[in-house]
Amino acid sequence: MLVLGIETTCDETAAAVVRVGAAGTGEILSNVVRSQVEDHAPFGGVVPEIAARAHVDIVDRVVAEALRQAGTGIDDLDAVAAAAGPGLVGGVLIGLTAAKAIALVAGKPLIAVNHLEAHALTVRLTDGIAFPYLLLLASGGHTQLLAVTGIGAYSKLGTTIDDAIGEAFDKVAKLLDLPYPGGPEVERRASAGNAGRFAFPRPLLGRPTADFSLSGLKTAVRLEVERIEAAAGGLGDQDIADIAASFQMAVADMVADRAKVAIRLFRERFGEPTALVVAGGVGANQTLKRVLGEKAAAAGLPLVVPPPKLCTDNGAMIAWAGAERLARGLTDPLDIAPRARWPLDAEAATIGSGRLGAKA
Ligand code: KG4
Ligand code: ZN
Repeated sequence: MLVLGIETTCDETAAAVVRVGAAGTGEILSNVVRSQVEDHAPFGGVVPEIAARAHVDIVDRVVAEALRQAGTGIDDLDAVAAAAGPGLVGGVLIGLTAAKAIALVAGKPLIAVNHLEAHALTVRLTDGIAFPYLLLLASGGHTQLLAVTGIGAYSKLGTTIDDAIGEAFDKVAKLLDLPYPGGPEVERRASAGNAGRFAFPRPLLGRPTADFSLSGLKTAVRLEVERIEAAAGGLGDQDIADIAASFQMAVADMVADRAKVAIRLFRERFGEPTALVVAGGVGANQTLKRVLGEKAAAAGLPLVVPPPKLCTDNGAMIAWAGAERLARGLTDPLDIAPRARWPLDAEAATIGSGRLGAKA
């Protein structure tokens, strides 16, 4: 089975071809990602209008390159998948429309993939992880702990009550005058820093729920930056490194504590998970992985994190999620609309769509 996947929900224009073998294992034949980071960098964040224009400019070439690298034509495909949301709707519209056009011309089924579901299922492509598993989904826009019990079967165990983790990394990077996107840069600076220099708060630590809060931590970083600037006239490289390291450690401690609670909630409601899984861009962070790995091991669970290239937005995860849905006969009509909002958990999803909420 060969599936083309197209991703345009944020600031990457991406396309990939994934092959699924008879045993259900996936193989990435191509995975082309054209990042728009340079287009957005001067603005310190993603500008929706610029993103949409950049997607229009390049999506056809990215798709053509993915097909070329995979050595396939559109007639060889079994289906065309595109992220249909959630995300910046101007961008989603472009990838989804490209997929519809290819599906129509080639006479192939269309699969409208939820971008979050694609992140959630990536470990089944990379590591063949079986259901059910506990997922920490941590990206620029989302922070959730979810029980993944099947395709389309997601139960939220915890979420952030304010900022997403990736967003907090990006905001702290801004406070430290580091370039966008902030996450990788904060991690790079932190590697030269002393994580014990600043005792930043670990919000909600020890609480019995698996929710997150990051705005207090971000405020503590801002106050520290202002204090140093007032005292010393500016931040030195060592100050930046120490703040980055101390912030990163506070996030890792908080995430590990929330994951511990989520493991307990998971076992109470769903039995034994096969693994603790991390997905989304923040999964690229090594300190987070180390601290979470220790927590998972203490609970007797393996920690499974896709390689960084498959944690951040890409087309392979869309193609794979499409293949998983196609194998279950879940295809979509050509008039399906893009969605700016599209929650993953069953209870919330039935309000808006009903589709992901339905047990598949
Ligand atoms: O999943 P993703 O590529 O896009 C979204 O769907 O949001 O995640 C991007 C987010 C950004 O906030 C970025 O700063 C963060 O993931 N990120 C990181 C790292 N790499 C990316 N955060 C911490 N450490 C990293 N190494
Ligand atoms: Zn994402």
